[in-house]
Amino acid sequence: SRLVAPNGPYAALDVVATTASTNADLAATSAVDRTVLIALEQTAGQGRRGRSWSSPEGGLYVSVLFQPAGVSADRLPWLNLIAGLALVRVAQSVGVEASLKWPNDLLLGPSAGKGAGILSEITADGSVVVGIGLNVAKLPADVEPAPGGLAPTSLEDLDAAELDRGELAFRLLVELAQLEGVWRKNGGDAVESGVLEEYTEHSSTVGRRVRVELAGGVELVGVAQRIEQDGTLAVRGDDGRDHGVSAGDVVHLRP
Ligand code: BTN
Repeated sequence: SRLVAPNGPYAALDVVATTASTNADLAATSAVDRTVLIALEQTAGQGRRGRSWSSPEGGLYVSVLFQPAGVSADRLPWLNLIAGLALVRVAQSVGVEASLKWPNDLLLGPSAGKGAGILSEITADGSVVVGIGLNVAKLPADVEPAPGGLAPTSLEDLDAAELDRGELAFRLLVELAQLEGVWRKNGGDAVESGVLEEYTEHSSTVGRRVRVELAGGVELVGVAQRIEQDGTLAVRGDDGRDHGVSAGDVVHLRP
């Protein structure tokens, strides 16, 4: 558990061969700020909106617990987006083109398949558990498409530079600590910390025609305009009205 330096960016780091869900594990313990749990396999991986996340051996499953004192609750959704930025940096570092489908699906390669997903949860005591599932090894040919018809892909499917999962996890945690550290130092301000600009730069959603499946089965079709300071997606509906989208599944439509 103590793979971490006393003054390093993380308080504790555990690596386990297998567990049900790294998010569930961290949420259930009274872990301190910046605790990391890595699994090489999950038996009950959780995805967004109650879905499951297929987590075979060969992927990378990382959860980090944050307690950013001094950041107001309305800014916490940025942790979710920041994790996506860390993934973009890691994918690019192994020679794979990467972008983000808002809020936090990592799209990889020329055909923009889904290479990773992020699930962030707020625990009862106000901590945020950020869970990252990265597809590393080649996926079986019969793997199910993600919601919105996104084809799943992996770093190995895209011939990324060969790296073991330890090295990938290390890079991911270094980038995440750097981004989160600057963001936190700026009180969670997405503009001052530069994360809004970096996110917008890597967004494949801004400027696209989208269909958003909002809660309650309501559907919004329009053009994504920008990411707002609070991390929400501004969509100009086909009815000419502007909507701020804070949750829901976004589907990219053809122009
Ligand atoms: C999604 O639906 O796209 C989000 C998937 C998030 C999966 C990760 S894997 C590590 C962490 N533990 C979980 O059970 N889920 C997240």
